[in-house]
Amino acid sequence: MASSTRPLLVDVHTHIYPPTYMNLLRRREQIPKVVKNNEGNEMVVLLKEEEGKGANSKGRPVGPQYYEREEKIKFMDAHGIDVSVVSLANPWLDFLEPAEAVSAAHELNVDLQSYCSTYSAPSSSPKPFTPKTQKRLFAFGSLPLVPGIKTEEVLEAVRQVKELSHLRGIVMGTKGVGKGLDDPAMEPIYAAIVEAGLVVFVHPHYGIENAFGEQDNGHALALGLGFPFETTIAIARLILSGVLDRHPTLKLLLAHSAGALPALSSRLSSCIIHDPHVKDRLQNDFRYYLGQLWYDAVTYGPEELALVERVVSRANNYEGTDDQLAFVDRVNGRADLLAPEGVFPGVERIMFGTDHPFFPPLEGSSDPSQQRWKSVDENLDAIAGVAGWGEGERRKVMGGNAVELFGLEI
Ligand code: URA
Ligand code: ZN
Repeated sequence: MASSTRPLLVDVHTHIYPPTYMNLLRRREQIPKVVKNNEGNEMVVLLKEEEGKGANSKGRPVGPQYYEREEKIKFMDAHGIDVSVVSLANPWLDFLEPAEAVSAAHELNVDLQSYCSTYSAPSSSPKPFTPKTQKRLFAFGSLPLVPGIKTEEVLEAVRQVKELSHLRGIVMGTKGVGKGLDDPAMEPIYAAIVEAGLVVFVHPHYGIENAFGEQDNGHALALGLGFPFETTIAIARLILSGVLDRHPTLKLLLAHSAGALPALSSRLSSCIIHDPHVKDRLQNDFRYYLGQLWYDAVTYGPEELALVERVVSRANNYEGTDDQLAFVDRVNGRADLLAPEGVFPGVERIMFGTDHPFFPPLEGSSDPSQQRWKSVDENLDAIAGVAGWGEGERRKVMGGNAVELFGLEI
């Protein structure tokens, strides 16, 4: 149904380094660290690709966009974003010793609550943008997920996050407590997160070892391929280990639309079915589990976003194991996939994101926070350009799904 009101826009993939975290990085000599370059500007050195020589060795500029709330709001206003669900950027607390990670997580969660809850819109005019709500900031909390941590300490942090009113989930890398998201040590943590009703935002940092040769390709391949493949592998492992069978209501939101997982899911399914070692491990075909996940819409292109939606929309066709599946039903086209209200089920699982403050306009643009960012417009254009989507679909992906998933009071 056409409506003249503009859609609510909620950004579920947007990062910060709160001041306490910045100070932690400034004190470090190993990556991750914040250093000053020859011009006296602060640079963040995060990725293993940034350790050596070449273009990456300088790291990336890090400024108030990362730690000042005012800058986040300016960015939101410039792009018409009503609400942001912010998360600590990579590599979170992964590099800390257990005791440090416990206190850093506790302090960060308190900081994040205050970052969100103490914001009130300025009453002075002129207003660059009129948001649809005054409650513009929510957050993912952090857990002390590091090797050697006691499970009870992680569970205590889950309880803390649950108690903080503006924290609606947890941001997590792909290492878990050291051995990945399929590590049995993660089981009680998943159970506690499910019980707390929190959403887990799974985000990459480490990329793929030894994958990019000796040419200096800047950050392009590490971010364009390493990041999404890391997520692809981590989630494939998580599914194969049965986490989603044991915790079917675990809410996982996957960064960068789960990387290559949607495109490779049928191949993975076939490889599983043809391997006697893993064939009977899951209660359903591999593809079924893609319908249990949520995806940001950070694909930068409408065709790629359409692929994610299409793959997720058909997931229910794959309930059961290979022997039980009705093969004919799968190829009947899209009509049989329609949800009662006529929206493809995959649409309900996808949510707008920006990855701010990463991917800013390159130097030379005078005040990046005041202008529109290409990286944001590409993702908005992708949502606008998916063939077959109308206003109803776009409203869900732009904000409606996030309101539901995070229980946002708008
Ligand atoms: N680069 C990063 O290090 N993190 C992001 O989230 C995006 C780009
Ligand atoms: Zn990100």
